[in-house]
Parts: sequence; C-alpha cells; structure tokens
Amino acid sequence: MNRSFTPPRQLPAWAALEAQAARMEDFSVVSAFAGDAGRFERFSFRHETLLADFSKQRIDEQVLTDLLTLAKEAQIEKGIEALFSAEAVNFTENRPALHMAFRGSCPPPAGERLDTGAWRRFAQSLWSGSVYGLEGRPINYVVNLGIGGSDLGPRMSTEALASSRSPVKVGFASSIDPRELADVLANADPAQTLFIVSSKSFSTEETISNAEVARAWLATSLGADRDLSLHFAAISNNVDAARAFGIRPERVFPLPEWVGGRYSVWSAVGLPLLLSIGPEAFDAFLSGARSMDNHFRTARPARNLPLLMGLIGLWNINFLRMDSLAVLPYAYGLRKFAAWLQQLEMESNGKRTVVDGTISSVPTAPVVWGKTGTNGQHTFHQLFYQGTRSIPMDFIVPVGDDNPRQRALVDNALAQASALMNGRDLETATKLLRKRRIGEDEVARLAPHLVCPGNQPSTTLLLPELEPYSLGQLLALYEHKVFVQGWIWGINSFDQYGVELGKEMAHRLSSTKTRPEDGSTAGLIAAVRALRDSMDAR
Ligand code: F6P
Repeated sequence: MNRSFTPPRQLPAWAALEAQAARMEDFSVVSAFAGDAGRFERFSFRHETLLADFSKQRIDEQVLTDLLTLAKEAQIEKGIEALFSAEAVNFTENRPALHMAFRGSCPPPAGERLDTGAWRRFAQSLWSGSVYGLEGRPINYVVNLGIGGSDLGPRMSTEALASSRSPVKVGFASSIDPRELADVLANADPAQTLFIVSSKSFSTEETISNAEVARAWLATSLGADRDLSLHFAAISNNVDAARAFGIRPERVFPLPEWVGGRYSVWSAVGLPLLLSIGPEAFDAFLSGARSMDNHFRTARPARNLPLLMGLIGLWNINFLRMDSLAVLPYAYGLRKFAAWLQQLEMESNGKRTVVDGTISSVPTAPVVWGKTGTNGQHTFHQLFYQGTRSIPMDFIVPVGDDNPRQRALVDNALAQASALMNGRDLETATKLLRKRRIGEDEVARLAPHLVCPGNQPSTTLLLPELEPYSLGQLLALYEHKVFVQGWIWGINSFDQYGVELGKEMAHRLSSTKTRPEDGSTAGLIAAVRALRDSMDAR
C-alpha cells in the first residue's frame, strides 16, 4: 500500500485538540446539558434504525470539529477507499483485508472467486437432515472447534440469535482445558455428532488438540477402524493440513488469507451461525453489515457513525487520557460481546510499531472489558460511580418488546448511563441522609461516602431489537471504528505478531529439551512437577 503517513502528533489538528483538552479539563456534561437544550439532538446520530448517542461524552462542537479535521488531515477518506478497494491495508503481510466482500460490499481481490456455495450447501444438507453419520443416522449436533476469531464471532452471534427452531443444535469448544470439550460432549450421541475444525492456520494448538480428542471420542464408540471423516468438516486457509488430518476434500471449506480471523464470521467461519439461524436470517445478518459498509463508505464525515465513534474513542484515549473502554450490552444474547470486542480492538490495535517502523508516540488501543449490563451493575459499576478513574462506557441497548421485564432492562440501561453522568453531590447526599432521622454528626460523617462525582462519559447505542440485521450493523460498526483508529495511529489493524511470541514459548516449554530462560519460569516448572509427584503419590 502506498501510504504517505504523518505521525498523528505532527498533524496540525493534534495540537488544536491538545488545546481543547486543556480547555475541557473541568468540562461538566451535566452543565453542558443545562445550557443547551439541543445537545442530545446535536450529538446523536442515526443510521437507519440504529441510534448512536454521544451526547454524554465530554465533547462539544469545537472538539468534534477538530476531531473531524484530524481525520481529514490523516486522510481517512483515502484509508476507507484503500480498505474497500483491495489495497494492502494489512501492510506487514502485504495483503488486503476484504472481509466486507463476504457481505457483498466489494469484490474479492482481482482474479479470486468468492465461493460460498459449498459451505452454504453443506449447511442446507445438515438442515434438511441429509448428512448422515457412520450409523446411518442424520447429524443433529454440530460442535465448532476453534479459538479466537475462529470461535468468538460465530459463538457470540449464535448466542445472540440462535433460535430453538433450528433442526441442528450447535456447540462450541475453544480451550485446551479438557473440561470444556468434555462438557460440550457430555450428553452427545457420537453417531449424530459432527465436528467443524475451524482454524485459519490449521496449526493452532488448542484447536488441533480438541480435534484429536474429538476423533478419539468418536473412535471409542463408533470404532477406530472405521471412516470417521463422515463426522468432520473443516474451515481453513491451510487446506492441505486439513485434508492431511483426514477431512474429506469436499468438506474442507477454504478461508481466504485476506480475511483475518477476528473479521471472519461473515465467511465460512460463520457456518455454525448459519446452522443456528438458517439462510434467510444469515443473509439478513450480512445485509445489516453491508448497510453499515455502505454508510461508512458514503456518509459525510460529520454524520458517519464508525468515523465518529472512532474519533470520540481516540479523544478519550489520546486527549482525555482514559485508557480503558467498558462495553455494557443490555441483552443476555450479547453475553459474549465483550469477549468478541476484546479480540477485535486489542488484537487489531494493541500495537506500538507504526507503518514507517517507528514507535507510536501516542497511546493506542484501550483495555476493553465488560459484561452484560445488569450483571455489571452488581459487580463493577461501583468503581464507575465512586472509583478514582474516568472510564468511557458503551451502553448497547436493544429496545425489544414492550413487556414489563424487557422495559425494566432498558430502563436500567438508561438509568445507569444517566446516574453515572449526573452523579450525586454532597448537598443531595446530606438531604438523603437527613430523611433517615439520624443525628447531624452521623449525617456529616456519612455524607461524603454517598457522593458520586458523575461526569463518566458514555455512548449509548440503541437498536430496535437484537435480530440478524441489527447485529450485522453493530459488528460492522465496531469493525470500522477499529479501522478508523488504526489508520489514524498508523497501525496495521490486521496482523497479530505479538501473539506469536506466547505461542512460541508454549512450544518451547512443552519440549523437554529446552530449558526455561528465566528463573521464575524455572521455579514454577519445578513447583508444577512437585505438585504432580505429590498427587501421584496419593
Ligand atoms: O493467536 C491469535 C490467533 O492467531 C487469532 O488471530 C486467531 O483468531 C486465533 O489465533 C485462531 O487462529 P486459527 O484460526 O489459525 O486457529
């Protein structure tokens, strides 16, 4: 990719934004609302039925204007075009990042075909009960063996959208911890179970180990000398390795190298989701994402949701010096969303070396964490209310049906965002305590403990309901937001060399010939051995 990169600090808008940050040091969102009846309208943006409300963020018109200038100076429009037109935005691996091709938003790289027919037909056959196991009975349970992007996208989306109408039950196992696969197989019938080995590289230790355990499990009940390949399919870029594992060639569904693992749910990696929700719903999922792609590519910068979300995130990280992002979906279906987003944001932009090989002079990806809303309220929201840090939050709120429990859920989301912005001052705390008819001394002693400073910045994303189309929109929104930030920082959001170091170390440790290089690891290895010996002796 031919990119003329200027480190963001050297862009004129950066200095302007630093000045804005100094001006905004004591900015109170509550006061901004008090003096501006139009604040919600001005800082809320819509794409179709998705509403993004940024009005609780510590921003004003000038900040937003300067952020948009920063994006312009960083040539974000060129970046977006480079992304969609198959330029090598993955500049370390010298390839494009074209997951959007699977949603029909752009063509695949020149000379390549987008072949979705085989895995979609396979799903159809599973749905219609015409894929049989060794005993001649139809497969009715499919277990996805994969980790990271080969697990989180399909698992999170399946949990979000799965319908009990699906004739095929879908399970997931990712960890090398033997307990997970054992749990997933606890009540399964080997004769009707099929495993999808989902691994772009087909070399990931956890996945291959799980696939071997699955094969052994099948062999135990169906017979080791029989053709177990009837119970397997694979999704991989390493087609040869998948075949060498014993998977039938027609059941190895290729994943092109230009689709990164954490961006792969739209491709064959989404097979478990397709199986769970069926082809029409899967198409709606793709078309929701396509609509966000189109919006990202064509909407004016000042109304472009992924761009605005990326810029406001960057404002919080680089100028207000907030280094984390809490994601709070108010939907049980989105219980894995935080994990999915952790990989998307931190594996994509958790990097320091920029396009010209120098080290970024500004902080990059935030620490992303979170949990479904009402559960978070009863665990870590305390820290938002009274802790010593400012933590930006994304409230994700599907409105859903008008029934009392669903209404309570949505009310909770809105109440939390409001309370965290408004806080409670000493005067209010004092009044509250006086109602308890306790002595004035006790009131004075307790009141400071009830004070919540408020002013915690948040974004609220409101969707009509959690369904395939809106989920597609939501995921694509975050994908593009991550791209915006990576582009401005000059980071390659599509490689993951860092993770390789841990993998190498794991290989070295499991090799008995290699001695650990540091004293702590050597000590821990000895302690592990001693524990094992003492357990063996029991
Ligand atoms: O180790 C990180 C990683 O490479 C992720 O990027 C990827 O999603 C995951 O491992 C699984 O990789 P694979 O699909 O090759 O098994």
